[in-house]
This record gives sequence, C-alpha cells and structure tokens, in this order.
Amino acid sequence: MELLVEKICCIGAGYVGGPTMAIIADKCPNILINVVDINEERIAAWNDSNLDKLPIYEPGLKEVIKRCRNRNLFFSNLVKENISNADMIFISVNTPTKTKGIGAGQASDLKWIEASARQIGKYGKGKTIVVEKSTLPVKTAQIIKSILLSSNKPQELKNEDDKSFYILSNPEFLAEGSAIDDLENPDRVLIGGENNDAISALKKIYLNWVSEDKILTTDLWSSELSKLIANAFLAQRVSSINSISALCESTNANINEVSRAIGMDSRIGKYFLNAGPGFGGSCFKKDILNLIYICNHYGINEVASYWEKVIEINNWQQNRIVKIILDKLFGNIAGKKIAIFGFAFKANTNDTRESPAISICKGLIEEGSILSIYDPKVQIDQIKKDLELYPFKENSSHNDGFWEFSNSTYEAAVNSDAIVILSEWNEFSEINYDLLINKMRKPSWIFDTRNTVNIDKAKKSGFKIWSLGNGNLN
Ligand code: NAD
Ligand code: UGA
Repeated sequence: MELLVEKICCIGAGYVGGPTMAIIADKCPNILINVVDINEERIAAWNDSNLDKLPIYEPGLKEVIKRCRNRNLFFSNLVKENISNADMIFISVNTPTKTKGIGAGQASDLKWIEASARQIGKYGKGKTIVVEKSTLPVKTAQIIKSILLSSNKPQELKNEDDKSFYILSNPEFLAEGSAIDDLENPDRVLIGGENNDAISALKKIYLNWVSEDKILTTDLWSSELSKLIANAFLAQRVSSINSISALCESTNANINEVSRAIGMDSRIGKYFLNAGPGFGGSCFKKDILNLIYICNHYGINEVASYWEKVIEINNWQQNRIVKIILDKLFGNIAGKKIAIFGFAFKANTNDTRESPAISICKGLIEEGSILSIYDPKVQIDQIKKDLELYPFKENSSHNDGFWEFSNSTYEAAVNSDAIVILSEWNEFSEINYDLLINKMRKPSWIFDTRNTVNIDKAKKSGFKIWSLGNGNLN
C-alpha cells in the first residue's frame, strides 16, 4: 500500500529541524512543511523578514529560506494543529545529557522526545509516519511506539487502522557550518524501520535529490545505533590526533606533517585529522556519554571505559592549552589582557554549545586575566550565558579577572599581551600582523590552537608564536 506524503510537520525548529526542513521544502515544492516549536522567540526569528536575523547562522541557509518560506515552508508555534494535519512527522527536538536523577551526566534526557510522542499520540490523525530525526539511544523507537499505542485518542479513532503509526529512524549527519551542502549532497541517508511502505514513503522524498545508491535502509536498532557510533568514531579521531599533538610538541615533530603523512594512507583517510583545542558542539560529548551509559547498562564496562578516554583526552587538551599560555606568559597572567579570537565551537557557525572556548576562557579568567573576546558571529548575550558567573567588565572588581566583548580583531588586540586563536574563521588567517602588533604590549604572543597563522609573516612582524602540535616552534 502506498503511503502518500503531502503534509509534513517537524517538531523542533533548531539547528537540525530548520535547515533539514528547508532543504526538503526546496527540493519537494509539492510537499507542505510546517516546522513547529514551543520556543516563541525562535519561531519569530525564523519568520523575521530580515534574513540576517534567522536564529542560526549557516552558510547558504538564507537563500534557501528566501525561496521556500511562506511558499511551502512555514514556521509556527501551532504544534497541535500541525501535528493533526500531517502525514509524516519528524521529531527534531533536543536530546541533551541528563543533569539530574539516575544516569545524570551520561544518559540522554528524553523528556522532550516523550512530550513530542505524547502530542503525536494525542493529535496525530492516524496512519502517520513518525520519523526520529533527533539522535537517540538505541531502542528509543520502542519507547515512542509504546507511547503512541497507549495514547489517549478519541474513541472513534480507536479502530486498529485509524490509530496506526509507523516509526522510522532517520538520523541526521549534517555538520554545522556545512549543513546546507551536507543536506544537499549527503554521503548517505540512513532509514531504519519495520514497515516497507513507510520506508518507501520517506525514501521517495529523498529520491528527489539523492541517488538511490546513497539511501541505506536497515532495521530500527542498527539505524539508531549507527548515528551514535558515527559521532563516537569522529570524536575519537579528533582525540587521537590531539593526543599526538602533545607528543609532536615534545619531539620536534609537526602535527600538520604527521596528519598529512598518515592521512594519505587510504585506509586511514585524510578527514578529521586537524588537531585543535578539543572537539565542541552539542553532540560529540553527549553522544559518547550516552554510548558509555548504554555500554554500562548492558554490563560491557570495558567498552564503556574505552570510550571514556576519548572525552578525558578532550578535557585534557583544553586544560593543557590554559597551562601553556600561563607558562609562556611568565607564569602570571593576572591583570594581563588577552585577546580571544573565536568563541564558536568551530568556524562558520554561531553555535557555542560545548565550545572549547568556554572552558579555556574560564581557565584564563580564573588566573586573573582580562579577556577581550571577538567572534565574527557569536553575540555578546550568548557569551554572557556561556561564561555564567565569570565577571563581565562592568561588574568586575579590579582584583579579579574578567572579560569584555570586542567588535573586531583589532579592537580586541589593543594593549593585549597575547592573542589566542580558538576557532578557525577565515578572517583569522588573513590578519595584518604589523597592524596588530603595533597595538599590543611586548613581548606580543600568538597562541594558535587551529594552525591558521602564517608563521613566517607573524614572526617577521615580531610576534612570538606557539602553535598547537608544532614541536619545531615551541
Ligand atoms: P536545538 O536545541 O537547536 O533544537 C531543538 C528544538 O526543539 C528547540 O528549539 C526546542 O524548543 C524544540 N522543542 C523541544 N521540545 C519540543 C516540543 N515538545 N514541541 C515543540 N518543540 C520542542 O537542537 P538541535 O541542535 O537541532 O538538535 C536536535 C537533535 O538533532 C538532537 O538530538 C541532536 O543530537 C541531533 N543532531 C544535531 C545536529 C547538530 O548539528 N546540531 C546534527 C545531527 C543531529
Ligand atoms: C558533528 C558530525 O560531524 C556530524 O556528522 C553530526 O551530524 C553532528 O556532529 C551531530 O550529530 O551533531 P558538528 O559537531 O556540527 O558535526 O561539527 P564537526 O565538524 O564534526 O566538528 C565537531 C568538533 O570537532 C568541532 O569543535 C571541530 O572544531 C572539531 N574538529 C573536527 C577538530 O578539532 N578537528 C577535526 O579534524 C575535525
């Protein structure tokens, strides 16, 4: 039996729900898509006529939104209404790590998933395809199914056919900063499910722009688990190369050369071998923690310990960078101004979730430093939230470290002792070193955690440079 999909509802208008639905709307003009969210401010931003005010910054997103918004793509807070109309419902809500109760600090908090499932159970019209887009612990589809089947529907819909729901797992693999390209040209689309008609209905949507050989279908559990494992493997590569960056510094080797040399082995591959200040982003840490929790739950404690190390190295890398800065600046940064270039967890996004910049900045402020933070896309209010109680300029007593916000690299550098590069924004590799150093105290340092600096040019201008994983220099 063919299941027709004319109306889609997506619950969750975040970094995944927004861009993913925008691309489906763009590629499938005949499908009507409603993206709904309980967060009114976020929805208002998605509907802002000024496309520079969209709630997330993602290269290429503005153009897609401009083409589709209010044509076949709509953003609203009308959750119930749009659930009740939809043939297919994507669940793209947040699944962060639990902060309290059993499993706190490791297990995923599924309260937003459960709330979504309950609403679908209550308002879904029946014969609805429910798609897990969020990243979930393996076996979550079982929970969603139980909620949907026990839902409180009006009596007249209680016959077997009308209350039926089909559950699919369709994890999202986009990376922030390249989301539009990732969605338009995915390496693969993964669909896990039990019902072939439902699988075919979702596959048909993707076939509008993805070739069939890239659409992989599996059982539900393999699909759910593959998403966690893909993130765990990627994070593991980052921790592996970061661990070697420290060894390079101790042995006069250079991490870029090592990455290049090992990456040319086709079995290893060249991607995800850039050493840096540690992985950030909303997902790597939470997904590995969840993997650890699941392994412990099934009594596979050795496997859990193996993955714990990936996170330990990540934390260690961030602490190590703070210690190096302190050490190079004569063991004392109290009262010294340090310019921070980049606060997002990577370039080309305004997302700061789990950004290494947060812990590195906190570490430097604790040592009494005065930070001047500049990021091309992160706003001051976001940094205020991330640095929580760490004092902002106006509220600070003069004895403590504090931070201030800068509108440019040049403004941040004035009177500073050092520049610390934390995200790899293009503009940081195009710095005019002569101009910067003239504004700084001497000796003037650059701490480059992303290997973006032109070392020869910077040295020529008089900078002292520490560059992550560069043993010839440090
Ligand atoms: P997000 O926090 O940006 O967005 C989630 C949205 O869901 C929020 O706006 C929230 O208000 C909304 N929401 C929560 N409960 C709701 C409910 N009951 N009804 C309506 N709206 C509700 O999160 P995100 O970054 O988009 O991530 C979503 C999921 O996708 C997570 O499971 C994440 O692991 C996964 N994922 C994220 C990325 C990424 O790059 N951010 C990539 C792949 C997968
Ligand atoms: C990551 C995955 O790449 C996506 O496939 C996945 O869908 C997503 O998580 C998710 O589930 O949320 P994202 O976190 O947006 O995407 O960004 P990445 O490009 O993977 O970078 C993650 C972190 O690792 C960043 O802090 C980045 O700077 C760091 N990284 C990445 C390195 O330090 N070195 C590298 O070589 C690559």
